[in-house]
Amino acid sequence: MKKWLIVGATSAIAEATVRVWATRGYSFYLAARDTRKLEIVRQDLQSRGAVRVETGTFAADQFDQLTEVFDQAKTALDGLDGILIAYGTLPDQLHCEQDLELAQKEIRTNALSVIHLCGYAANYFEHRKTGTIAVITSVAGDRGRKSNYVYGAAKGMVGIFLQGLRNRLSSCGVSVLTIKPGFVDTPMTHEFDKTGPLWAQPEIIGEGIAKAVDKRRNVVYLPWFWSFIMLIIKSVPEVIFKRLSL
Ligand SMILES: NC(=O)c1ccc[n+]([C@@H]2O[C@H](COP(=O)([O-])OP(=O)(O)OC[C@H]3O[C@@H](n4cnc5c(N)ncnc54)[C@H](OP(=O)(O)O)[C@@H]3O)[C@@H](O)[C@H]2O)c1
Repeated sequence: MKKWLIVGATSAIAEATVRVWATRGYSFYLAARDTRKLEIVRQDLQSRGAVRVETGTFAADQFDQLTEVFDQAKTALDGLDGILIAYGTLPDQLHCEQDLELAQKEIRTNALSVIHLCGYAANYFEHRKTGTIAVITSVAGDRGRKSNYVYGAAKGMVGIFLQGLRNRLSSCGVSVLTIKPGFVDTPMTHEFDKTGPLWAQPEIIGEGIAKAVDKRRNVVYLPWFWSFIMLIIKSVPEVIFKRLSL
């Protein structure tokens, strides 16, 4: 029986992932900021076969709450096998250009807090010589684009941090998974026009995350075709890229 801490457990992608794990009889410590939504997720997982579901609250910009929630999860489940970090915000790029404090706040939520929590989790798993750190970043972190480079910079920062962490922890049996979804139909993207073949449902992403964790993958693009799209986007020379409207 595996024991996972899910940070940002009310995220649609996290929920889809833990539903897969619940059917396998995993136990969870779910952390989120909205207790009402958290209770709905807790009951749903229990009805799907989760052995034990504990809950706690946190706010991403309160770093002490992140480490507290990690310690609470460890105690409540008597140890942890993995952590999935799923929370995040999608800032309005133009708004961030006008309000630099907002840009900083978004970087704090989407990057600095995630890095803080990963660092804390890494020390725990490194000591135990086992465990998985799985973090949802984004394809947006692969290349800066004018339409969302504050968000992209935050996700890219986390991606580089995870590369280093993976390198550090590989010799002690700890797996570090970087999850890069493309466009996913969740509350985060409610303002977007979701027509077209590039949009995926959270269930597809959740299944992909569960498979990638099982296979101890390092990096996973979800759905898979985003690895090819990003290969092309990354290979466009900067002299051309800067003229594109992306
Ligand atoms: N949807 C996409 O197209 C897409 C693509 C690539 C990557 N991603 C990434 O996937 C992850 C999950 O997003 P999603 O698509 O599942 O969206 P979502 O359903 O809107 O989930 C976002 C989650 O982040 C939580 N959150 C936001 N700010 C927080 C804060 N300050 N403190 C604590 N929790 C906070 C939200 O809590 P509340 O429930 O309280 O609001 C919610 O649980 C995010 O990291 C996102 O960047 C999404």
